[in-house]
Amino acid sequence: MRHIGLDIGTNYTKATADGSNVITFPSLVVYGEEKEWSLKGKAERQVYVGDEASYMAQNVENVEVLRPLHEGRLMHSSYIELAKHALSMLNAESDRFVATGLPVKSSKKERSDLVDKLKNTLNCDVLLLPQPVGSMAYAGVNTGVCIDIGFGTTDVIVLADMEYLKGDTLLVGVDKIYENMEMTIRNRFGITITPEEMTKLLSEENFRVGKVRGGKKIAVSRDDVIDEYSQFMKSWVERIVNRVNMLLEGLSISLVENIILTGGGAKLPDVENEFKEHFKDIGDIQIPDDPVTANAKGFYRLAKLYAGEEKSEADALEQEQEIKKKGRKKK
Ligand SMILES: Nc1ncnc2c1ncn2[C@@H]1O[C@H](COP(=O)(O)OP(=O)(O)OP(=O)(O)O)[C@@H](O)[C@H]1O
Ligand SMILES: [Mg+2]
Repeated sequence: MRHIGLDIGTNYTKATADGSNVITFPSLVVYGEEKEWSLKGKAERQVYVGDEASYMAQNVENVEVLRPLHEGRLMHSSYIELAKHALSMLNAESDRFVATGLPVKSSKKERSDLVDKLKNTLNCDVLLLPQPVGSMAYAGVNTGVCIDIGFGTTDVIVLADMEYLKGDTLLVGVDKIYENMEMTIRNRFGITITPEEMTKLLSEENFRVGKVRGGKKIAVSRDDVIDEYSQFMKSWVERIVNRVNMLLEGLSISLVENIILTGGGAKLPDVENEFKEHFKDIGDIQIPDDPVTANAKGFYRLAKLYAGEEKSEADALEQEQEIKKKGRKKK
């Protein structure tokens, strides 16, 4: 059996079939429109996913680009296309056990519909968990708090002995910082930059975003914007911390000693230090070695664990029936 860890995020889908090599592609889907003429006689493609969808979005006019997950909600059935694409990139076409996640505050109906659809369309077993559980499993922490700062949402959970105690989905993600930064750069330099460029601008020391404007070259570097970034980042972290504190209010201190900070937001400059400062009285902040892929890697571990358990449960049941049969024969 192939075990798959699949983390479909607002911005990126991450998946692994071995727990260490993770494939990543944009969580984008484009359905092909029927053209009036097809000159090459080729059958037209029905659906474009990931990097191809991103290329279509940038280079082809009048295509509708779907982002199946938005603000913590499953917006569209094209979600299934992302799962299919991930499995085909991993060459995992049959006999699979997939562990995957949804935001903590997804509805029960959303979850059961999704599990049914994944099972029926992909013909595989599915384990659906709250997204941050992946990073907890990857870090090997069974009791503690996980704050997963994604692109569109921040998901928070408290686990006690790998059991869900409470959690929340905040509609504040990396997108909120990027929107403010994008506006600042547009006002100051007159150029527009994409979220991908923003990530590079903030995380790579010598990266410069350059654009042509009015016949001139305009370049922006990290130093040009770092002061504004620090200001936005601090109030953004405070907003998240306030909500996390509301969730932790009244909990026993033994539950909150380990705090895992994960998701792409954990990689933004100084975010780790800011969280450490806020939680210094409560617990230790740990960041997985790669917070962007940690959920997928943890889901992989859980897929192995639960698929094994299911099997051993089935084995145990078989053994029990075998013993009963023998008992009946003796009588
Ligand atoms: N060093 C970095 N590497 C990768 N992404 C980064 C980095 N720094 C900041 N980011 C940003 O963090 C964002 C969030 O990443 P992540 O993959 O955790 O979100 P997601 O899972 O797609 O979203 P969500 O969990 O909200 O559904 C990325 O889209 C990127 O813009
Ligand atoms: Mg995520």
